[in-house]
Amino acid sequence: MLNGKHIILGITGGIAAYKSAMLARLLIKAGAEVQVIMTPSAKEFITPVTLAALTGNPVISEFFTANTGEWHSHVDLGLWADAMIIAPATACTIAKMANGVADNMLVTSYLSAKSPVFVAPAMDLDMMAHPSTTANIDKLRSYGNHIIEPASGELASHLVGKGRMQEPEIIVAEMQKYFAKSQLLKGKKVLVTAGPTYEKIDPVRFIGNYSSGKMGYAIADEAARRGADVILVSGPVSLRPAQPGVTVVPVESAKQMLHECENFFNTCDIAVMCAAVADYAPANPADKKIKREKQDVQVINLVKNPDIAATLGAEKKSGQILVGFALETDNEQTNAIDKLKRKNLDLIALNSLRTPGAGFGTDTNVITLIDKNGTVTPLPLMTKPEAAAALWDYLTENR
Ligand code: PMT
Repeated sequence: MLNGKHIILGITGGIAAYKSAMLARLLIKAGAEVQVIMTPSAKEFITPVTLAALTGNPVISEFFTANTGEWHSHVDLGLWADAMIIAPATACTIAKMANGVADNMLVTSYLSAKSPVFVAPAMDLDMMAHPSTTANIDKLRSYGNHIIEPASGELASHLVGKGRMQEPEIIVAEMQKYFAKSQLLKGKKVLVTAGPTYEKIDPVRFIGNYSSGKMGYAIADEAARRGADVILVSGPVSLRPAQPGVTVVPVESAKQMLHECENFFNTCDIAVMCAAVADYAPANPADKKIKREKQDVQVINLVKNPDIAATLGAEKKSGQILVGFALETDNEQTNAIDKLKRKNLDLIALNSLRTPGAGFGTDTNVITLIDKNGTVTPLPLMTKPEAAAALWDYLTENR
């Protein structure tokens, strides 16, 4: 899986840097080409000569090579890499990455990288447990980086606790697993809906909802990361997909969303309906701004919008998979199961506004997967990209 891959191995100044030599060796053995970037303090812990000899490439540490004046382009490195692994990642480098502090070659390359980034933290247990470290790690996770959790055990300080950099074998296995997953949806066409719909009242007002699109965009990005060709029919949001394999089709109203979904559903293998679609729209949207009148009550008549998921469910052909979401505030499972059946879905992801960290706007979600055979799989609180990955894991493992 790593054969022929270009990998940047970032090494920062911690005692676990000695393990990076073994990591470089294992990556080379797996067939990767490895370019090491060391922070200046990493060189206090392990010599660049060792890493240059192991990888066959001169180690980069500064923006310029002092004696030749050669400039190292962090942008070119960022484009060259198929993956970046920062191991060990100290609290200092993690903080810089989380906050975009681009004061060395490693962090500038990280900020320029278009590839997946793996981070293997290593530090003393109290530093690891400090709220600023955990907040920075959470931030990195929310940016889509893959954190390889440190192990517990005896640390350099002789204290015992969580903070040991994972063993190089485990790091390589995690990276291999990632690249294996990136093939899982190869050749598949995926349709995703995301965001809210806006239903016009007049040229300046609409009926909408609080959906930010984060959940749907994470689902689309994760499908593309796994090799799918993704059409993302998106209501008005301020997001952009992170993956090149995602084509956004912007829409505003439920009717427009239905029209675009019908265009693409026929040829897709899997559709995930994550949008928060307005169930009703103003019956007669005004073509001029409605003026403030004398009367205290203004009545807007609403008419039922089409049910997009149910329409696709009725058109579904054998072999196609249709997934819906259920956003509930009460009787959660009963309502979700009813929607699963009524809309002819294969799977529904239930999220409840009563659960802290779940639903609209947040960076996290708590979903329960319910399939058409009645299997209920509750998942813990996760970031939305993690929840998206769990959804695709479920779909690929249970097909
Ligand atoms: O965008 P975020 O801020 O990240 O928030 C994510 C989310 C809360 C919007 C998302 O996780 C979610 O729950 N999306 C579905 C919201 C919703 O409209 O749920 P529902 O229970 O009303 O609808 C059930 C299913 O039918 C959904 O798949 C929905 O897309 C679909 N539907 C609903 C109404 C309609 N007219 N047409 C539909 O296709």
